[in-house]
Amino acid sequence: MLSDQLFEKLNDQMNFEFFSEHAYLALASYCSSESWEGFSNFFIQQAAEEKMHGMKIFRFLCDLGKRPRINGFESPEKEINSVLGAFESAYAHEQVVTKRFYDISDVAMNEREHVTMQFLKWFIDEQVEEESTFDSLVSRLRRIGNDGNALLILDSELGKRGTAAAAPTA
Ligand code: FEO
Repeated sequence: MLSDQLFEKLNDQMNFEFFSEHAYLALASYCSSESWEGFSNFFIQQAAEEKMHGMKIFRFLCDLGKRPRINGFESPEKEINSVLGAFESAYAHEQVVTKRFYDISDVAMNEREHVTMQFLKWFIDEQVEEESTFDSLVSRLRRIGNDGNALLILDSELGKRGTAAAAPTA
């Protein structure tokens, strides 16, 4: 059912989702080191989502009788010197993820692999939300600039992500 080419693409994306988990943990680590615990919480929650994305592909491949290969990861550490830089890096990362899913979808479409196309739809829909979230946060952070009080308010808002007090858009 699944061609070797499509399997490799999906396996690669599964590993990229696990890499994304690490990349977001690295951003959480930077924020925490600067005592921005709300931003750090936001990225920890994001990392957990990426693990879930990777596991979704892992299970899909297993369900199709394949054996996913777990690869080693390059270090996600980047030169991050500001909260804005962390969120810009996250936004750029999500834009890459979207392109990767389009690429996999093109292969699935060419192969008329309808089950995989159906499976990928969830991720493509999810990317709209992922990009929109980071685009909006980057805009807000640029507007905030060096306003320490506004930054504290946003830190507190994002600290609620994953808690019962979270706003629907957080
Ligand atoms: Fe799994 Fe944020 O894309």
